Amino acid sequence: MHIPVLLKEVVAVLDPKPKEVFIDATFGDGGHSTEILKKILPGGKLLAIDWDKDAAERAKKSVNFQKPEITIVNENYASLLEIVKKIKFPKADGLIVDLGFSTGQLESGRGFSFLKNEPLDMRFSKDNELTAAEVINGFTEKDLADIFFEYGEERFSRRIAKEIFKERKKKRILTTLELAEIIKHSVPQNYERKRIHPATRVFQALRIYVNSELENLKTLLAGMESILNSGGRVAIISFHSLEDRIVKNYFKELEKEDKAKILTKKPIIASEEEVRNNPKSRSAKLRAIILK
Ligand SMILES: C[S@@+](CC[C@H](N)C(=O)[O-])C[C@H]1O[C@@H](n2cnc3c(N)ncnc32)[C@H](O)[C@@H]1O
Repeated sequence: MHIPVLLKEVVAVLDPKPKEVFIDATFGDGGHSTEILKKILPGGKLLAIDWDKDAAERAKKSVNFQKPEITIVNENYASLLEIVKKIKFPKADGLIVDLGFSTGQLESGRGFSFLKNEPLDMRFSKDNELTAAEVINGFTEKDLADIFFEYGEERFSRRIAKEIFKERKKKRILTTLELAEIIKHSVPQNYERKRIHPATRVFQALRIYVNSELENLKTLLAGMESILNSGGRVAIISFHSLEDRIVKNYFKELEKEDKAKILTKKPIIASEEEVRNNPKSRSAKLRAIILK
């Protein structure tokens, strides 16, 4: 089960009240939604979205979420505007977006982790046609290097891409451990002073690329105002600097245009205790705004 990150802090900035309308764009196992529901029911409404069919199916089957006040939708949050229009969902008082993947997905056999041997898939949704294996075995050496650099901020992107190109001529690279081994052999022994596994950044880059994560986030942000009420709150948790920069700059822009007020001058991060109990929270950054 996924442990929700920065739960108390999210509820504090979103401040859900009885009868309010909320949207959880990244429902996962529903950790954040559960707390929000406690505050908005009775009388409130929740739209729960997850792109992963397994997450949406689990939610639909769970007695906790089988309530007339909860609508569960298996879609990409980039289509949020179309979703609310299609189901005639009212304007919301709050939106939570908890980016990245859930603990369940890390164990879903879809190749999100370089610590277990699984097929190189990395798709949140099967509707998405491109898999990580197709990228690794089909893209040019230059395109691979660019992806690793742009979405993973990987310093050794060219060396890694070169090695992948060489190895895949011998045999297609189809599993996580095959790829992780090639990466390990392409970088210096003392990579990042052994603080992180050499495959960390390349795996992040592939996941972001395969799922168009940054584009989805930008589309969501661009449409957000039109689906929220005046006074609506937005909380976004990101897990790496690329996402955080997009959120930070977009929120700043809204404040400059006098459309919103930033509620988190500095991003909220997890307490030492939370990091001890849930290491995934170590890189989490929460930013929030309230619309004017
Ligand atoms: C970190 S988890 C959310 C965990 C959730 N807040 C909880 O407490 O259980 C992120 C979720 O977002 C989903 N997701 C990722 N990209 C998405 C997208 N573009 N549209 C909808 N859901 C997405 C993933 O499938 C995953 O279930």
